[in-house]
Amino acid sequence: MTFKDKHIVLGITGSIAAYKAASLARLFVKEGAEVQIIMTPAGKEFITPVTLSALTGKPVVSEFFGANDGTWHSHVDLGLWADFMIIAPATASTLGKMANGIADNMLVTTYMSMKAPVFIAPAMDLDMFAHPSTTRNISLLQSYGNHIIEPASGELASHLIGKGRMEEPEKIAEYIREFFENQETLSKKKVLVTAGPTYEKIDPVRFIGNYSSGKMGFSLAEECAARGAEVILISGPVSLRTIHPNIRRIDVESAEQMYEAAIYEFPDTDAAILCAAVADYRPVTQSDQKIKRSDDKDLTIELTPNKDIAAALGRIKKENQMLIGFALETNDEEQNALKKIQKKNLDYIVLNSLNDAGAGFRYDTNKIAIIDKNGNRKDFELKDKKVVARDIIDETLGKRDKL
Ligand code: CTP
Repeated sequence: MTFKDKHIVLGITGSIAAYKAASLARLFVKEGAEVQIIMTPAGKEFITPVTLSALTGKPVVSEFFGANDGTWHSHVDLGLWADFMIIAPATASTLGKMANGIADNMLVTTYMSMKAPVFIAPAMDLDMFAHPSTTRNISLLQSYGNHIIEPASGELASHLIGKGRMEEPEKIAEYIREFFENQETLSKKKVLVTAGPTYEKIDPVRFIGNYSSGKMGFSLAEECAARGAEVILISGPVSLRTIHPNIRRIDVESAEQMYEAAIYEFPDTDAAILCAAVADYRPVTQSDQKIKRSDDKDLTIELTPNKDIAAALGRIKKENQMLIGFALETNDEEQNALKKIQKKNLDYIVLNSLNDAGAGFRYDTNKIAIIDKNGNRKDFELKDKKVVARDIIDETLGKRDKL
């Protein structure tokens, strides 16, 4: 992919690294892109608008109104015009404003009106980068679907050594290129995703359920759709919205309903990602009426096993189909995960450990390892579930034409 004919909004904020933004602008322009630069007032202290407008052939936008003629610069129009926006360098202050909707300059208003993908390359001192407020803001921005291009480690403007140096322009360009290439990797593919918990009815007001929020499965569905796939999302009861128009959602309640829907849809797909926390058992009988309380008698609910959806799909899986399962373990994690690969005929299993803080049910973050059917294991850091979804797709259906 080249940047030829791309419409790019390049945001520059007040950091020493602003000089590198000139090389980035030049790189885009040389490949034939149209680049509109927006600077924060502090950005202009580090590099002049004259240098930048000479490179892009367009006046730099910084204020809401033109200084001489009072014309209004439309952040809304820029949001519609752009194929993508890159903010490089992004200071701690701008990250904070973007994360919290403090739209007091042209750069942040444009960011908030942006319809296209947004990339952010932070640059700051190591202590500022490590500060919990920066970590929180980055995590918020990721949760909005923005893409963070991590700073590199090395000597900083303060002469301290650590993480915070803006990534080099060539690497930033490479990251963006890869993103757009990946976007088409799943076009014409059909992916089934199961997500959320199942509810197994006891009586009209009670059920057996679990703490699954559905966030991991929904992030996977969004990620597959963003890469061009047609997605069928079979979801248990959750309070989440689907956003991408290429996701067809089937809402179910019980494991049996999820099984029926999955068995029906799977044959026509290229892959299934089984992220749902399916209840292993259901009550043998379901009372039509609310079970009444008794003070002197124990209540026993007899349970019977539900069908294993993953194993059933594993049995009917064809050569050209891929099956990815999840395992949530508390002990002997890897051994149990490997057993599940065998038993369910999976190609990959994504292992979450309940022993990792911030991972698993009810969190927005997850820490995973991916194990393939040959036992090769790759471990990942604790990340926002949206970013974890990208890692999972990269490793499994991803960019290397695995499907
Ligand atoms: N799974 C499924 N249908 C079930 C149970 C599990 O499709 N009835 C899928 C899950 O979606 C997950 C994988 O199987 O992808 C492993 O689920 P997990 O609950 O970890 O495994 P179980 O087979 O239920 O084993 P156990 O509860 O004993 O660990």
